[in-house]
Amino acid sequence: MELIEVLRTIRARDPARPTWAEALFCYAGLHALLFHRLANRLWRWGLRAPARIVSHIGRFVTGIEIHPGATIGRRLFIDHGMGVVIGETAEIGDDVLIYHGVTLGGLSTQPGKRHPTLGNNVVVGAGAQVLGPITVGDGARIGANAVVVHSVPPGETVVGIPARPPQHEGRRPTVGYGITPGCDDPIGEEIAALRAEVAALREEVAALRAPERRLAP
Ligand SMILES: CC(C)(COP(=O)(O)OP(=O)(O)OC[C@H]1O[C@@H](n2cnc3c(N)ncnc32)[C@H](O)[C@@H]1OP(=O)(O)O)[C@@H](O)C(=O)NCCC(=O)NCCS
Repeated sequence: MELIEVLRTIRARDPARPTWAEALFCYAGLHALLFHRLANRLWRWGLRAPARIVSHIGRFVTGIEIHPGATIGRRLFIDHGMGVVIGETAEIGDDVLIYHGVTLGGLSTQPGKRHPTLGNNVVVGAGAQVLGPITVGDGARIGANAVVVHSVPPGETVVGIPARPPQHEGRRPTVGYGITPGCDDPIGEEIAALRAEVAALREEVAALRAPERRLAP
């Protein structure tokens, strides 16, 4: 059942580790999604005005505006949520994480596909604006406050205005909050650095002792 799936997702992805009751009652993203499921069904039945009214009530209650025509996959987690806008022809894959202040918006006034398509496991940072009928590939990450107007390849991270990959290598996938697995353990990192230093010192000592050994009878 979708409600249980989304509750599990909220509990797993929010580092605040909410209880089941907190996840059910205190996450506007969940409530917005439930409003959207109803609005989207009405929209697909051709009941446009009732669909818009349900969507509008959802916006009033949650601060999240999702057009009833938007296509949303499973386990969408909109964290915090206030100020999120998702346009009519936007498409969102499974397991996507969106923070507050995000727009999946259009650039064109022409009808037809004019909003972005997000793949599975995409993370969209707070305040990011993703504009136009572009594609954000599976596992891509969009930095907080980025403005994205070109498609993003799968697994890529983009930041800034206009959004581009950051100038450094060796990035790893995000779980949530821009945290990369394995990088959230400062003590482990410290120990690894100390081990590397000890190994380097051992090599230096061995090199210094080598002439002594050669001179020994
Ligand atoms: C984009 C993001 C996913 C990158 O995470 P990452 O791969 O761990 O990248 P790093 O933190 O190593 O940063 C890489 C480079 O990009 C820069 N950068 C990171 N996020 C940026 C952003 N939003 N805008 C501009 N530059 C950014 C960093 O300064 C760094 O540059 P440097 O190498 O010159 O110092 C992450 O920074 C982000 O924005 N996550 C969204 C988090 C969010 O919205 N949280 C809201 C919680 S309420």
